[in-house]
Amino acid sequence: MPSDESFVAVTCTAPVNIAVIKYWGKRDEELILPLNSSLSVTLHQDQLRTTTTAAISRDFLEDRIWLNGQEEDVEQPRLQACLRETYTLARIYGVEGDLSEVARRGSGSACRSLYGGFVEWQMGQRADGRDSVAWQVASESHWPQLRVLILVVSAERKPTGSTVGMQTSVQTSDLLKFRAEALVPARMAEMARCIQERDFPGFAKLTMQDSNQFHATCLDTFPPISYLNDTSQRIMQLVHRFNAHHGQTKVAYTFDAGPNAVIFTLEDTMAEFVAVVRHVFPPEANGDKFLKGLPVTPVPVSDDLKATLAMEPVPRGVQYIIATQVGPGPQVLDDPDVHLLGQDGLPKPRPAA
Ligand code: DP6
Repeated sequence: MPSDESFVAVTCTAPVNIAVIKYWGKRDEELILPLNSSLSVTLHQDQLRTTTTAAISRDFLEDRIWLNGQEEDVEQPRLQACLRETYTLARIYGVEGDLSEVARRGSGSACRSLYGGFVEWQMGQRADGRDSVAWQVASESHWPQLRVLILVVSAERKPTGSTVGMQTSVQTSDLLKFRAEALVPARMAEMARCIQERDFPGFAKLTMQDSNQFHATCLDTFPPISYLNDTSQRIMQLVHRFNAHHGQTKVAYTFDAGPNAVIFTLEDTMAEFVAVVRHVFPPEANGDKFLKGLPVTPVPVSDDLKATLAMEPVPRGVQYIIATQVGPGPQVLDDPDVHLLGQDGLPKPRPAA
């Protein structure tokens, strides 16, 4: 058995972020440097988070890594880039400095998860990537009324991963080049203004436009890539009709490299929008498990609203909803019981789900 003094473990949790101005395309594949800056909202870890434990001991013989309890090849290049540089390891070795620059090496968009609230990943200009870093535009307490609904359409793995998808877009899409050079800089400034001023209609419209433009660049890629399915299209239609009914932009959608929708709305509209999603996509067997996360009071949908929506219900189109809000950045957990690795360096048995 290893002696206690030689064993050090640190456990951290990290949030998920969702981009409202999208990153798509790299100018340097090795260093993971993007073609354009991007901006995201960090989601609350009470609903969604990753947990990582790093452990070191003089008694360990080799480096090993497990993802979701499955051992992975520790020599994988991106994993190596990450391992040299992740947040948890940085804590264990007491590294100071800009960790977003190092998190970027694992997966570009992940660098925005180093902060809570509203986060910009500035593309930077330097060839060595030292200025391609994330910074916080506004903290998690800046816009307390903002709510996020994740509409899970399909939990399947995406057919074209982002890394490969964006490589093909960079090689073949003129629209992507135009977007990155001519459009994104002004969009970044406008999005930052909407966030600073808590201008929901402005934030919502630009979020939808940027999601649509990202998916347009995917279609402009050759061969084309399409991440959205029929249910995603129906959700978009639903949002536009809901907003039209109210005569103002009360809800926005955004989609990443897959068919699941992320919806932004304000606290006062969340219950009505959830009711509308239930109306258009009636849950079948799992009615009580349809809504996870923050509690949402059930409310009726008015006949008037149903008439404007004019949408035939599609049972099970949406599998479930996760209701959440803006949240903080990575957290270090102090309780030793939360470590995922035991003193022998092996994963502890996981409690049954
Ligand atoms: C559509 O960060 O997954 O979610 O840097 O190759 O790992 P790699 O790609 P990744 O791409 C995310 C693309 C996106 C938009 C975004 O999050 O900005």
